[in-house]
Amino acid sequence: MKSKRTSWLLAAVSVTISLGLLFSCAQTKTETKAMPASYTEEELGLRQEPLYDESKTLPVHGETTSKEPGESTKYERSFENSPPLIPHDISGMLPLEKDNICMGCHMPEDAVFSGATPIPSSHLINLTTGEYLRGKLDGSRFNCLQCHVIQTTLSPAVQNIFKGEFRDEKGRYRSNLLNILNEGVKSE
Ligand code: HEC
Ligand code: HEC
Repeated sequence: MKSKRTSWLLAAVSVTISLGLLFSCAQTKTETKAMPASYTEEELGLRQEPLYDESKTLPVHGETTSKEPGESTKYERSFENSPPLIPHDISGMLPLEKDNICMGCHMPEDAVFSGATPIPSSHLINLTTGEYLRGKLDGSRFNCLQCHVIQTTLSPAVQNIFKGEFRDEKGRYRSNLLNILNEGVKSE
């Protein structure tokens, strides 16, 4: 009885050892076969600079527009209902407070006089509850620059090939988010 168990044990040990050997052989084989091409530090990354020394690679900030509001040209929207890009100079308007200078020209009642695109109705309601705020800006919207950004002249390291599609031609220059927000949602 005892010797039978010992021979089983011996068999199991030898199977384990031979499997282990086989596996390690296979491993050394693949290791020697596929050696990846190596790159120097300068070749890694888009800046073509050593990774551990950034002293010669100063960030490029580019130039922003100096055109005043009223003199600039609006950009086409990046995609349907995307936040429009800011086409005019905003230096001297920062930092943005709860009642800020942007609202002075862009709130619907002021936009009539300034010629600015009026702040849309989506900014004048609480989007979570749907409550209309009687012409007041929703508190979550006062920091315009969180979503609307000014542009700089730069040559990007990687070209952006994204192309937005518009179901309606008007969408290239105006938004209609609140009208279409519930599109496709069934309500009973
Ligand atoms: C003195 C009035 C004035 C102020 C202040 C102002 N804007 Fe404007 N804004 C305009 C006008 C006018 C336009 C239309 C383009 C033009 O004529 O230069 C415009 C255009 C824009 C657009 C593009 C709208 C579109 O339909 O493409 C955005 C976004 C914008 N402004 C955001 C801002 C933000 C954010 C601030 C504050 C940092 C601000 N504006 C301050 C008058 C103003
Ligand atoms: C949380 C993000 C966010 C913030 C903050 C925000 N916006 Fe917008 N804005 C958007 C988006 C998204 C759109 C396009 C969809 C829509 O109309 O809601 C938009 C659209 C607009 C438009 C175009 C309206 C039209 O009819 O085409 C104007 C003008 C504008 N915003 C001005 C502002 C100003 C000024 C502020 C600050 C007082 C501001 N927004 C704050 C996201 C934001």
